[in-house]
Amino acid sequence: MGANGGSGSGGWAGPALVVDDQERGLFLVHRSVFTDTGILAMERERIFDRCWLYAGHESEIPKAGDFVTRRVAGRPVIVTRGRDGKVRALLNTCTHRGALVRREARRNAKTHQCFYHGWSFTPEGEVNGIPGEDAYSEAFDRGERRLREPPGGTASYRDFIFVNFNPENEVSLEDYLWDAKEYLGCIADQSAGRMEVLQGSQPFGMRCNHKLHVENSTDGYHALVAHKRYFDWLAGAGAMDVSAGLRFSPKALGNGHAIIGRSVAPFGRPMAQWIPYFGEERKPHFEEMYRKAVERLGEERAHQVCTCGGILFIFPNLIINDIISTTVRTFYPIEPGYMEVTAWCLGPEEEEAPERAVRLDGFVTFNSPGGFVNPDDTEALESCQRGFEAAKEVEYSDVSRGMKRLLQGGEDELEMRVFWRQWARLMREAGPASTHTGTDA
Ligand code: FES
Ligand code: FE
Repeated sequence: MGANGGSGSGGWAGPALVVDDQERGLFLVHRSVFTDTGILAMERERIFDRCWLYAGHESEIPKAGDFVTRRVAGRPVIVTRGRDGKVRALLNTCTHRGALVRREARRNAKTHQCFYHGWSFTPEGEVNGIPGEDAYSEAFDRGERRLREPPGGTASYRDFIFVNFNPENEVSLEDYLWDAKEYLGCIADQSAGRMEVLQGSQPFGMRCNHKLHVENSTDGYHALVAHKRYFDWLAGAGAMDVSAGLRFSPKALGNGHAIIGRSVAPFGRPMAQWIPYFGEERKPHFEEMYRKAVERLGEERAHQVCTCGGILFIFPNLIINDIISTTVRTFYPIEPGYMEVTAWCLGPEEEEAPERAVRLDGFVTFNSPGGFVNPDDTEALESCQRGFEAAKEVEYSDVSRGMKRLLQGGEDELEMRVFWRQWARLMREAGPASTHTGTDA
């Protein structure tokens, strides 16, 4: 027992941040982890600068020269496909005097030209041209002025692109993802070709600590309470029947990753799981999709891919909500009490218009900042953050639910403990970000 998330050299000198008493079945999180600027600085260094982080999806940059710009772990990054077909992440800061080399969200370009003094770079990041280059001495090395890449590497798994900012990183993306690979595969296999990011994104902010969002994303306990309005609306629209409960079950996937939920039956899903809400006339199409999936994947895998889904959390800041639509969401803390979030919608490239419409409608009405669900969660999490102002008197939050149960259910807090144990380990210990175990429940 007693995992002090901040102990160790150069670490946190205060009280135990995470109390993990497995004997008594008590799990407590010290509320300073949600409010303290020193802890946030340590998290940036020990967690975000050490783990593989989601940066984009290969479908966003299908052709050579395609690029998207975004912030990953607080850095401006260009995610691009080179002329060699390889995906790269280039730090979006001119090696001359710092300007953002690319300021647009996405485009295709043969070169990247900095608007400040006109230096230009190839899609692979090499220096392409420097106005008045003869003014530089012999010590000036073009090679050293190429656009930098994340030092720990850039890699893709089933089209999901990740980057790593740890110069000493020795963990491959596949080892890092561990058992989460199976569920990323479940999402990728929903298409006979490729899953694609649908145009547009949802960027927004929440006035709460990012770890509250982690806890909330796989929290089955709050669903029917905090989102009562949404479930009432769904039931009224004939879109779901919650009489049998939500049938979520949690599973630890190693390295702090977890999933909640396998069967999506009460929700239905645009991918091969028909419910009356989708319309009687679309029923044959769903049967056909399922038949094709069986042909392509075999009976067992087709069943898993088409009718099972859930909310997948990949440590430390990727959530894929694969229930009504497929929402990919990543986030980063700006302050202890403020985070930036971006969400995208994924769908099979071959999807027909009626199912695509259902998917996009689900993307907006379910979990978007203006939808039914996210405002409830935002209110709850911002309310927790305000509650932490009394942290001097109420020091710890309780994450013990279901801890002593042999079989933990969807309303237990197993997946949160999975997160906190990995968080505490990385905050406490040096060494690789992967423990290569899939059993840290
Ligand atoms: Fe980019 Fe000078 S800062 S060319
Ligand atoms: Fe919620």
